Amino acid sequence: LAATDYQAEDALISQGTVASNHTGFTGTGFVDYTNVRGSYVEFTVSAASAGPASVTLRYANGTTADRPMDLSVNGTVVAPAVSFPATADWNTWAAKSVNVTLKAGSNKIRATATTANGGPNLDRVSLGTPTDTQAPTR
Ligand code: GCU
Repeated sequence: LAATDYQAEDALISQGTVASNHTGFTGTGFVDYTNVRGSYVEFTVSAASAGPASVTLRYANGTTADRPMDLSVNGTVVAPAVSFPATADWNTWAAKSVNVTLKAGSNKIRATATTANGGPNLDRVSLGTPTDTQAPTR
């Protein structure tokens, strides 16, 4: 599965705005989640075949507090309250990866803020080969 990028500014945004008032984003901007619980960004992504994939969210969090979000796939929360910890400032971006299972064809991946602070600033989602989370044994 070749990595494919989906820009947050092109996604479906509920309670958030497209912004470009910080540096280092890709595409034409990023999504600034409204500081409210339930704000979300939903990406429609395409999978060539059913199976596991990694979803990597590129984000910035210029505060000192975590900005957790629920990650859902096709309407089901598959990773609750994923941590999006501080990134030093709003111009500093970090990546958070979660392994999910996709169906063949179109899939909806949604990241929903779980606290009143809203989500972090979200630059994009990259879909790729599942990351190996288990240490190798020999
Ligand atoms: C600041 C920052 C925004 C950010 C916001 C927040 O206003 O400039 O980019 O989204 O804080 O707390 O979410």
